[in-house]
Amino acid sequence: MLTPRKLGTQGLTVSALGLGCMGMSQSYGTQEERDERESIATIHRALELGVTFFDTAEVYGPYTNEELLGRALRGKREQAIIATKFGFALDKDGAISGLNSRPEHIRTAVEGSLRRLGTDHIDLLYQHRVDRSVPIEETVGAMAALVAEGKVRYLGLSEAGEQTIRRAHAVHPIAALQSEYSLWERNLEPRILPLLRELGIGLVPFAPLGRGFLAGHVKRAEEYPESDFRRNDPRYQGANFDANLRAASAVSKLAADKSVAAGQIALAWLLHKGDDIAPIPGTKRRRYLEENVAAAAIQLSTEDMHKLDTALQADQVAGQRYSEKQMATVDR
Ligand SMILES: NC(=O)c1ccc[n+]([C@@H]2O[C@H](COP(=O)([O-])OP(=O)(O)OC[C@H]3O[C@@H](n4cnc5c(N)ncnc54)[C@H](OP(=O)(O)O)[C@@H]3O)[C@@H](O)[C@H]2O)c1
Repeated sequence: MLTPRKLGTQGLTVSALGLGCMGMSQSYGTQEERDERESIATIHRALELGVTFFDTAEVYGPYTNEELLGRALRGKREQAIIATKFGFALDKDGAISGLNSRPEHIRTAVEGSLRRLGTDHIDLLYQHRVDRSVPIEETVGAMAALVAEGKVRYLGLSEAGEQTIRRAHAVHPIAALQSEYSLWERNLEPRILPLLRELGIGLVPFAPLGRGFLAGHVKRAEEYPESDFRRNDPRYQGANFDANLRAASAVSKLAADKSVAAGQIALAWLLHKGDDIAPIPGTKRRRYLEENVAAAAIQLSTEDMHKLDTALQADQVAGQRYSEKQMATVDR
């Protein structure tokens, strides 16, 4: 059911749907709601269902998400494709103090990731955010040196813009771009997606469920706890929330017509956008994982795709996907 997909043209193959592990350690819900046993059971269930592609980052936790994934994959490492990321500067208390893609920092970060993941190689290493203070050629040069040493297999970028992607790819082939892409976030469609196809780079859409909104399990920003990302997400606030609920009703309507869940329609739409796309829905629960994986079997007709394409275009979605401060870290 989960047929493998090629990410990029260098030989990296992953399951059509991956598992985003970030929410097992941060961003959604409270610390009390996170249950390490259920998270590990979710990772194991993913493997049973044919999900091979696991997404984490140094900054998730920070550090603890890589440790969790490493613990879950003990004895099962060879079944998994591990993707992780470096690129944030973290102070001694683990708070983000900026970006850092200097070559010497990359090496230290990757050594830490390898240790926490309990592995001698990372399958896919992404730069998490473009650091404008370091030429991308230097960053990718340092990443390529790690490939030459066998510590990393494939390279990726996250939220990188056109020029950065071209320059990076000229230094060492980039296997995948990981950026936000979903029914309600289409910024990649006009220029980035065609560029990826021109260069033979795969796309890994993050937040494919709109952080839960497209799955229909949503509350207004102020109803989430302080620690929850959605509390400060402009799309979950005030009149934006109401407008977005109206726009997303097209997803729930099609889901009802097909007797499937709304989130499954959001994932099926992404999977139908091209076989060079491997979304990584995030969850810390087996129940949601199983539902998400089943989305790979859903067939959408050209008419269904057209309905969805037009229901949530940029002018129907209210609010930016990030706060101004977070938006400033996105390379365009
Ligand atoms: N490169 C980057 O800058 C970047 C940024 C953000 C995320 N990411 C990566 O992308 C992954 C996915 O993105 P995301 O987790 O932020 O957003 P997402 O996948 O769009 O949504 C995750 C949220 O949806 C909920 N959910 C998942 N499956 C569901 C279902 N079937 N029904 C109802 N709700 C469901 C989850 O609930 P529970 O938490 O309760 O399970 C969680 O609250 C992350 O885990 C992370 O690895 C990367």
